[in-house]
Amino acid sequence: MKIAVLNAGGDCPGLNAVIRGVVLKGDRIYEHEFVGVKDGFRGLVEDDIVPLPRQHVRGLSKVGGTILGTSRVSPFVDGRTDRVKEVLAKHDIEALVAIGGEGTLTVARMFHDDGINVVGVPKTIDNDLSATDRTFGFDTAVSIATESIDRLRTTGEAHSRCMVVEVMGRNVGWIALHAGIAAGAHAILIPEVPVTRDQVCGWVQHAMDRGRAPVVVVAEGFSFPGEDQQASSERTDTLGRRRLGGIGEQVTRMVEERTGIETRNTTLGHLQRGGVPSSFDRVLATRFGTAAVDSVSARRWGTMVALQGIDIVNVNLHDA
Ligand code: F6P
Repeated sequence: MKIAVLNAGGDCPGLNAVIRGVVLKGDRIYEHEFVGVKDGFRGLVEDDIVPLPRQHVRGLSKVGGTILGTSRVSPFVDGRTDRVKEVLAKHDIEALVAIGGEGTLTVARMFHDDGINVVGVPKTIDNDLSATDRTFGFDTAVSIATESIDRLRTTGEAHSRCMVVEVMGRNVGWIALHAGIAAGAHAILIPEVPVTRDQVCGWVQHAMDRGRAPVVVVAEGFSFPGEDQQASSERTDTLGRRRLGGIGEQVTRMVEERTGIETRNTTLGHLQRGGVPSSFDRVLATRFGTAAVDSVSARRWGTMVALQGIDIVNVNLHDA
């Protein structure tokens, strides 16, 4: 069978390990042929398809980024998938392995509904896909954030300052929560749990009073109750999406003004997505990749591989 592998949306440590898992098992066990789609859905629409032989994926599990490139381009031309079908047919591609987050997997479901043979693989550092207990990339992001907070703590202690650290998490606080707990933060601000300005300043002051350098971890999607950060954001990106960011700076100003404690902000940003994946993410990504090619071979179209407990399972893309 000829299979195309595509990743779309933001990159994520472990993407290359998934691609390697798909191709190695697919080639060796099932004797499938593979091609890669360049830069996410852009490659499908613009017919940018490259051969993906076994030799191209050797040694990839430890490499960050993605050898295929990625983008957030939409595959729908005039709201239809005709162009995608045309490109797949031109290359005799029978199936698509789509690796992505919420947006990409929603598109994968629509492709399936439209008759395209597709199997999904969940991907996001944010860990915000409900059908899987973990997404690969999350563990790496948490490790980077934890190490960063540890480092910021020592400089904060040296100056008796409060250190605010903004971590990624557009809609959820998983990275903030895990890194904050691991690093022993005094306050962790996440979108799921409302906290007031008074509470945050109280926690900071309490830590300072005990002779500690207060550490506040805030998820980029957090906002104080009654304030919609997204709605108030003026910045838009090249795709016209409202950009988050700046909540760390806001919290920093607020703490300094209200408590008088000297405070500094660090926004970790894309540092959390770059570089080598952790061993946990390499293993999870490899398991997802090999399971995805099993699903393709069993023609379980419209499903996604997922981690439930310690097992890799298949869930329906509609449920995911
Ligand atoms: O979804 C993963 C994520 O890293 C979010 O945490 C973050 O809001 C977003 O992607 C950043 O996207 P971009 O790479 O387009 O700036």
